This record gives sequence, C-alpha cells and structure tokens, in this order.
Amino acid sequence: MFDPKSFIEEQISDISEIQDKAVVGCSGGVDSTVAAVLVGKAMGSRLLAIYVDTGYMRKGETQQMDELFSEIGINHKIIDAREEFYEAMVGVIDPEEKRKIIGNKFIEVFEREAEKFGADYLVQGTIAPDWIESGDGVRETIKSHHNVGGLPDIMNLKLIEPLRDLYKDEVRTVARELDLLTSERQPFPGPGLAIRVIGEATPERTEMVREACSIVEEELEAAASKGIIELPWQYFAVLLPVKTVGVQGDKRAYGNTIAVRAVSSLDAMSARFSSIPIEVLEKISVRITNTMKNDVNRVVYDITDKPPGTIEWE
Ligand code: XMP
Repeated sequence: MFDPKSFIEEQISDISEIQDKAVVGCSGGVDSTVAAVLVGKAMGSRLLAIYVDTGYMRKGETQQMDELFSEIGINHKIIDAREEFYEAMVGVIDPEEKRKIIGNKFIEVFEREAEKFGADYLVQGTIAPDWIESGDGVRETIKSHHNVGGLPDIMNLKLIEPLRDLYKDEVRTVARELDLLTSERQPFPGPGLAIRVIGEATPERTEMVREACSIVEEELEAAASKGIIELPWQYFAVLLPVKTVGVQGDKRAYGNTIAVRAVSSLDAMSARFSSIPIEVLEKISVRITNTMKNDVNRVVYDITDKPPGTIEWE
C-alpha cells in the first residue's frame, strides 16, 4: 500500500542533501506542481519555480498559478513566452513534431532562466506512465510525452524527478497530503492545447479550443456538483481540421468542428469513454456554438475507449 506521508518524508530528506540550486518548470498540472512543492520544501529558496506561459495553457491558468505559488510561498517567476512558442509552431501539423518543438522550447526557456538563477538542476514532474509510454526500453513508443522524448540530448542540467515511480492516483494522494488545491485537478498534457488543435496550432485556433475546453470543464463540473454525473477522470475539447456546412440565421455557414472527450481511467494506461447524459452534452454543444457563433457550427462526442484510441487525439 502506497503511503504518501512516508513518500514525502523520504523525498524531502533525499532532496535536501542537494546543496546546489534548482529550477522547476510548472505547467499548472498536478504533476509539476506536486514536484515543485516537494522540492521547494526540501530546498527552500535554492529552488526557483518557473511558469512558462506557452500560449497553450488553459483559460485563466497563468493567473491561478501565480496566486497558488504566492500562497504556498514558493519562489517563482512567470515568463510570457507566447510569441516565441506560436512562432515555433507555424506550419507544424505532426503531433510528435509539436511535442518535440514545445519540449525543446521549454528547455531553452528553462536554460535561459536557470542560467540567470545559477541552477544546476532541473526538476521535472515525470510520472511512471510518461516514461513507460515513451518506450525507455520497456515498450514501443506510443507517444513521446514531452517531458521525456522532447528533451534535447545537449541539455546540461542534471535532473530531479521525484515522482518518477508514481502513477497518477498516487500523485493525487501526495497532493492531498500536501494540502494542494490542485490535488483534484484533472491531468493536462505537457504540450498543452497545442495537441488539442488537430493541425496547425495557430493563436486563433488555440483560442477556440481554449474556450471550448473551458466550457466542457465548467459544464461537467457543474453536472458533477449537482450529482448528475460522476466527474470524469479527464474531460476536454479538441478542435478538428474539418469544416462542415451549417446554418447561421438563415444563411449557409461553413464552420469548424469541436469534439468533446470525457473518460474514466485509473492511471491513463487504459480508459473508458464516459457515458454523459445527452442533456449535459446538449448544453455543452449549445454553449460552444453560441459562444463561438462565427467559428464553430458542429460539436461531436467521442465514444472511443483506450485502447484502441488514446485519451488525447494527438
Ligand atoms: P494518451 O493520449 O497517451 O494520454 O492516452 C495519456 C495521459 O497522458 C497525457 N498526455 C501527455 N502528458 N505530455 C504529457 O505530459 C504529453 O505529451 C502528453 N500526451 C498525452 C494525457 O492528457 C493523458 O492524461
């Protein structure tokens, strides 16, 4: 049985041996936040948490993270790198290439900031499914999750990966033990919304999926708090590279398609699509098409398990 208390004690005692400085990149997800707080407790001001706004973050996330780190008292810095990331993604449509580019940019920004801070270590929120699914000699590569496959070989910071042997549910028990507000937050991929825009993740298309993801989150969380559904393990929207014909007022429209995805899972290794009541899905559909009248005119629901699908579409 996994014991979060002794896990935390062991990690803090091991990591506090390190006398050099470290930086941690926080994307707002549970994993990186828990890793940052663990290392922060061990190293105090020898740790700098760097939040990079890549432009592919969830709605309101940057401000929330700033507030969270201030509350916990972790030494942190917010970097607005949106322009830089958007530029790097021009013309990129291949999912693996997206991961590599975003992973490399992340490291580039880290290294820049790490150098300024004088750090020797990079803390990462890598968890077991990340490296198992990225091959690492265990299985064939399915997706190169960016905190593994995207790392450039030339990276000259040493790694601290306190969550490397944990599965998602174990990370959440650690988060709860640490009293973190994010402990109940659903997982979010390192490359962020870039892999939820199928095709080129332009600023405009990213804005659409950011809005759609936020609507899906709000509606499913509202339905869960009313007891209509159990909150799915992960739930979001995907913007498809498909335009379809619709009607707007009494005119023909030609707009984008949003796919809604909600799954239950234990550890992301397998997943089952969630049976969401049709009324809840209808509300999501109506809100998305009303909010983005000029951009989106069709919403579909994904009823694929993993396997044969994966949770994300890219
Ligand atoms: P898939 O789509 O492979 O996702 O079934 C399994 C879990 O991993 C998340 N995911 C990622 N996380 N970098 C990450 O840190 C990535 O590149 C990445 N791709 C997928 C996904 O959201 C799900 O929770």
